[in-house]
Amino acid sequence: MSGIIGYIGDRPVIPVLIDGLKRLEYHGYDSAGLAVIVRDSVFYQKTPGRIHNLEERINSHNHAGEIHGGGYGIGHTRWATHGKPTEENAHPHCDCTNNLFVVHNGLLENFRKLKKNLSAAGHVFRTETDTEVIAHLLEKYLAQLGALEQAVIRTAQDLTGQFTFAVICRQDREKIVAIRSGPPLMVGLGEKEYFLASHGPAILPFTTTVIPMADGEVAIISKDSVSLTGLDGQPRAPKIEQLSPDGTASERGGFRHYMLKEIFEQPQAVRDTTLGRVEHASGRVAFEELEISSAELKCIKKINIIGCGTSLHAALYGKYVLEALARIPVEVDFASEFRYRNPIIGSDTLTIMISQSGETADTLLAAREAKKRNSKLLAISNVLASTLIRESHGVICTRSGLERAVASTKAFTSQLTVLMLLSLYLAQIQDRIFWDNSSAYLEKIEDLPSKLEQLIGRRAEVLTIAQELADFRGFLFLGRGPHFPLALEGALKLKEVSYLHAEAYAAGEIKHGPLAIIDPSMATVVMATHDLSDSNSMILYDKMLSSIHEVKSRDGQVVALATDGDREVPKIADHTIFIPKTLNLLAPILEALPLQLLSYYLADIRGCSIDQPRNLAKNVTTG
Ligand code: M6R
Repeated sequence: MSGIIGYIGDRPVIPVLIDGLKRLEYHGYDSAGLAVIVRDSVFYQKTPGRIHNLEERINSHNHAGEIHGGGYGIGHTRWATHGKPTEENAHPHCDCTNNLFVVHNGLLENFRKLKKNLSAAGHVFRTETDTEVIAHLLEKYLAQLGALEQAVIRTAQDLTGQFTFAVICRQDREKIVAIRSGPPLMVGLGEKEYFLASHGPAILPFTTTVIPMADGEVAIISKDSVSLTGLDGQPRAPKIEQLSPDGTASERGGFRHYMLKEIFEQPQAVRDTTLGRVEHASGRVAFEELEISSAELKCIKKINIIGCGTSLHAALYGKYVLEALARIPVEVDFASEFRYRNPIIGSDTLTIMISQSGETADTLLAAREAKKRNSKLLAISNVLASTLIRESHGVICTRSGLERAVASTKAFTSQLTVLMLLSLYLAQIQDRIFWDNSSAYLEKIEDLPSKLEQLIGRRAEVLTIAQELADFRGFLFLGRGPHFPLALEGALKLKEVSYLHAEAYAAGEIKHGPLAIIDPSMATVVMATHDLSDSNSMILYDKMLSSIHEVKSRDGQVVALATDGDREVPKIADHTIFIPKTLNLLAPILEALPLQLLSYYLADIRGCSIDQPRNLAKNVTTG
C-alpha cells in the first residue's frame, strides 16, 4: 500500500531517495518523508501530500552542505491506515529521543495493546499511527541489546500483523536494518552502494540486480556489504535476481496518462500472454511454467477462483469460460470473504488466485487459507517476483508488463486471456468433448491483438459519447453470461477514475428493482454483442434487446456495445460502440477496451486525477 526506499553509498543520498519515492508514488501518496544521516548530521523531514511537497520543503531548507556527498537514509510514501494523512503521521517515525527513524509498510494488529504498555513504561507517543510502536519497541530493545539488528529481531517477536520496516539509528551507525514480514521488500545491489525498495521500479535507474527478501528475513546493509538472517539470527543465503529491465515501460512515453498508455498496450499484452502457449501443430495449449502436473490437474473436481477488485471480475469471467469449456464446477470468491466462510475445499479442489501485483494482502491471506486446507494453489499474476507466486504451487504469468496506473487495464485483459487459455488446457487434460472444437478457439485467440488494435483505432467514437454523457447523474452497466463480469468491470473503472456513481447488474435483474432509477439523466451501458455460431449467445442477445427496450421506454439513455454488422442494436440504442466479430466467450476481452476508454475520457473531461485517483492505491498490501 505504501512505498519504502533506502540508500547507502557515495551518491548524494537525498536525490536518490526523492527519485525513488517519485517512482513509488503510485503505491500510496497522501504523505511522505525521509531521514538521512551524513557524517554527524541527521536530516529528517516529512510533509503531507505528494512527493513534490517534500522536495520543495527540502529545497527550501537548503541543507546542501550537510546532505550531499554520501551518507545513508530511508524514505517512505504513505497511504493512511492508522491516523489521518498529516505531517505528524507521515513516516519515518521516531523513538522518544529521535535516535531511531523507522519506515513501515503493513498493518500491526496488536499496536493498541503495545502502545498502552509502552506508554505505561514512560514512552511518549506523538502520532496516531500503528508504526510508532515499532520505534519505541526498538528504543527499548536497543537499550537492552546494543546492536540494531538484534533490536529489530527482538521487536519482531512482539509484533503481530504485517510489518515490513526499515530503520536507521544515530547510536548504531553506518547501517540500514530492514525486515520483511508481509509487504514486499528487496535489496538492490550496486558498486559499493546498496538500495532498499518495496517495489522494483523505485531503484530501476540505479540497478536491476536485487535480493528479494523472503517473509521473516532481516537485512543488515552497510556501505560495504549486505547480509541476511532469519528471525532466529541465523545467516540466510541471499538469492540474487534480475529485475526485468523495462525502464522504458516505467516512463509515460508520449501519453498524457499511464492509464491511456496501458489501454493502448493491450494488443501487445494479449499477444505476449498468448505467446508460446498455443501449439499450432497439435492444436494444443501449453503452460511451461505451470508446475502443477497434468496428472494432478486431471484429478481436479472443483475450482475456486479468488481475487479482489478487477481481478475478482476476471475470476467471474473465469467461471463462465471454465464451466463452458472444461466443464468443471467453479466457485468465485472475494478474497476478503473467502477465509472467513469456512470454505469446503480439499485436495481435489484447485484454487486459482488472481492478482495483478501478487501482493494484495486479502488475496495472499486467502491463498494461505486454501493451502492450509490442502488445496493446490495456482497463481495468475503479472509479477513473477511476487509473494503470491512464491507461495503458490503453480503459476501462470500474465505478461502485461509493469502496470502503473491505479486503474487496472492491460492486466485485466491479460487475465481474461489466461483464463480462456487455461479453460482450453483443462478441457484438453480432462478430455472434454468440447476439446474437438479447440482449434476454432485458438485461431480466434490469436486474432484478438489485431481486433484490439481496431478498437483503439475507433477511440474517437468513444470520446464523442463521453463528451455527451459527462453531465449524467449516474451510470448503470448491464450484461449477461460471460459479459456480466464486464458490466461489473465497466462500473468499477468508471467509479474509480471519474468518481461518477456507477452500478452493474446482470441484465435480467433490472426489473427486480434497478429500473426505478432510470430517467433521462441516467445512462445505461449494455453489453449487447452476439455470436451467430453460438445458440446460447443468440438467446442472451435477444434478451438484451428486450432490456434495451425496457430502459428506453423509461426515457433512459442507452450506450450499447454491439457486434460489427449488427443492425438491430443501433435502431434502439442512443449510441452504439461496435466490437469486431469473434466467438461469444472471447468477446469480453474486446469489450474491456472501449469500457476502459469511456471511463478514461469521462475522467479526463471531469478533470480527475486519472493515474492516482483520490483515496486509492495501486497495491493494497494490508488486509
Ligand atoms: O494486484 P491485484 O490484482 O491483486 O489488485 C486487486 C485490486 O486491488 C485491483 O484490481 C483494483 O481493484 C484496481 N485498482 C482496479 O482497477
